Amino acid sequence: MLILAIETSCDDTSVAIMDGDYRVLAESNSSQLVHNDYGGVVPEIASRIHIQTVMKLTDKALREAQVKLDSIDAIAASVNPGLIGSLLIGVSYAKALAYSLNKPFIAVNHLLGHIYANRISQTDLTPPFLALVVSGGHTELVDFDKELSFSVVSKTKDDAAGEAFDKIAKILGFGYPGGPVIDKLSQNGDSGFVEFPRALNQKNNYNFSYSGLKTAVTNYIKKQSKSFIDENVHNIAASAQMAIVEPLVRKTFNYLLKDPDKRKEDHKKRKIVLAGGVAANSLLREMMTQKAAKHDVRVYIPPIKHCMDNASMIAAAAVIKYNNNDFAGLDLNPFSTKGTRNI
Ligand code: KG4
Ligand code: ZN
Repeated sequence: MLILAIETSCDDTSVAIMDGDYRVLAESNSSQLVHNDYGGVVPEIASRIHIQTVMKLTDKALREAQVKLDSIDAIAASVNPGLIGSLLIGVSYAKALAYSLNKPFIAVNHLLGHIYANRISQTDLTPPFLALVVSGGHTELVDFDKELSFSVVSKTKDDAAGEAFDKIAKILGFGYPGGPVIDKLSQNGDSGFVEFPRALNQKNNYNFSYSGLKTAVTNYIKKQSKSFIDENVHNIAASAQMAIVEPLVRKTFNYLLKDPDKRKEDHKKRKIVLAGGVAANSLLREMMTQKAAKHDVRVYIPPIKHCMDNASMIAAAAVIKYNNNDFAGLDLNPFSTKGTRNI
């Protein structure tokens, strides 16, 4: 079984071909550097470039995988959330391919793709599990009882974790994406240097909030001299990173380990799955791994390249949908509504 998957939810175009064992036969990608000139993604430009690249990348992926278009069994695309114009290009192209080949179309929620990116390297991942989805636009805890049956437990009330990294990097004078910059700076920093605030701290509150942190960092920076900031940028970055990551880890475990009696029989099955761009963060990976070992929980962490947006993750979720006979009609349109959801 072969799936061809397309990801165009933001400014990266990606096409992947995957077999039924989650093996990536090809993945071709193209990034849009033009947005750097504008300080952010310009949606209209993004969608126009997707039009120019999606067909070329599809040809390239087919050549790389050494498969013919008519041996593909289903066409998948990222359908939501994302920039509506960008999604429209990938979805329209996928539907046109599906129609012309007379093959089913599979609609994938981008965040479900991030979650099942874990299957590519760890095919033994099966529900029940608790997913922590941390990306540029989302911070959510999602409780899975079956592969395609889940409920969103909690989410951010304002900024997402990735957004907090990006905004704090900008406050400190660095470019986008801010997460990798803060991550790197923090390696030589003292995370206890500044006590930045942590919101929604009650034990049974599983929601997140990061806009107060952004304000706290802004106010802190305003009060210091330029030379003090330059001298301590590693320490400030490490302190901000801790204020983003520590609540993610604490709340994930608070939810997973609550109600121990009810979950006792599931003890051996307790699993945490990290998903999204922020899953690349070294502190998050380290703290999750350490706490998981302490509580006898298995934690699934994707390799760095599978944390980022790519079509292989869309293909992985599509394999699961294919196996569950979960296909979409060609009248389905993309939509930008946020959150992990079934389509
Ligand atoms: O999942 P993703 O590629 O895009 C969305 O679907 O939104 O995630 C992008 C986010 C950005 O906010 C970026 O700063 C963050 O992931 N990110 C990181 C790291 N690498 C990427 N955040 C923290 N540490 C990192 N190493
Ligand atoms: Zn993403």
